[in-house]
Amino acid sequence: MRIPYENIALVNAPYRKALTEKFDALLERGWFILGDEVTGFEQAFAHYTGNVYCTGVGNGLDALIFSLLALKLPAGSEVIVPSNTYIATILAVIHAGLVPVLAEPDPSTYNLTAEGIENVRTSKTRAVLLAHLYGKCCSMTAIMALAERYGLAVIEDCAQSHGAMYKGQPAGSFGTAAAFSFYPTKNLGALGDGGAVVTNDPALDQHVRLLRNYGSGKKYHNQIPGWNSRLDEIQAAFLQIKLQSLNEMNRHKQELAAIYRAGLNSSFILPVEEPDHSDVYHIFAIRHPDRDKLRAYLAENGIGTEVHYPVPPHRQQALAAYFTGQEFPVSEEIHRTVLSLPCSAAHTQEQVREVAELMNRFGK
Ligand SMILES: Cc1ncc(COP(=O)(O)O)c(C=O)c1O
Repeated sequence: MRIPYENIALVNAPYRKALTEKFDALLERGWFILGDEVTGFEQAFAHYTGNVYCTGVGNGLDALIFSLLALKLPAGSEVIVPSNTYIATILAVIHAGLVPVLAEPDPSTYNLTAEGIENVRTSKTRAVLLAHLYGKCCSMTAIMALAERYGLAVIEDCAQSHGAMYKGQPAGSFGTAAAFSFYPTKNLGALGDGGAVVTNDPALDQHVRLLRNYGSGKKYHNQIPGWNSRLDEIQAAFLQIKLQSLNEMNRHKQELAAIYRAGLNSSFILPVEEPDHSDVYHIFAIRHPDRDKLRAYLAENGIGTEVHYPVPPHRQQALAAYFTGQEFPVSEEIHRTVLSLPCSAAHTQEQVREVAELMNRFGK
């Protein structure tokens, strides 16, 4: 592709010198699991997300599972999740031994709302696991008010929203805890897998610390049956380097998004902009009724795109047993029409202008 959807090598190129120097130093030191780099990153990332505590874990899915387990909810508790999220959000509920209940998102923001949550709440609902999808925060004031009214825990899935804000407050600082992924394509991406749980609750943080390390707080003494899911020293060191440029990188993506907004004609449904939100465009998702044709047309012209996501979670074979007979028309419509455009740290404003111009000629 002339303009690929993503080029992770190019995204990481500006950090090459700092990363390789750091790698050499770590190789020299020979300490790879749970050391100063993990502690250093945890402190920096807790601060960045407006939290007191952060625990680095192996990936975003485990961050979600551990956040839920640390709530210590009774078996059979229902957890409300968005019907249009990446499957990991829903898998986390299942792996935590809880019952996922899907709520439809707002069709214009693609995010859960207080109303959507209220529509599926039952007497068994104990928590909401919401996702700030595509880099946009859910409207948290109404959601937190609803959660307070019914005594629900709120876990934020921030895998796509590093640095996003709502009313000047960062994603990951609203709920009981928040889970982040550092998968290489994320706004803050490692050079491998990584994740973190952030919270202001010391007991919750301690529980996640045990869970990630065989249930052990003291070497060879195991308090609970835990996992092996630790952020490693090399990734933690790399993430500290990249965290320093995260705001700048997010600003770059916001500038690219503004060019799409100014340039694309009205045949495309654009991501909404709202006054209280600062979105970080992990994904710049537009919608079009002829999505597949549009995607093929762009590919013919050398432009790479993606679909996040082609199959709604309730139609995935893995989840068929959980949601048989249930219908989620809003999620279906989003999945049928959504298209992700090139909008990364490695894309230039000229490239994005070119994509927008090409798109405006689609079907003409
Ligand atoms: C919304 C969402 N939740 C959770 C995850 C899981 O993160 P990971 O791939 O690090 O397990 C991802 C990304 O992969 C995601 O996009």
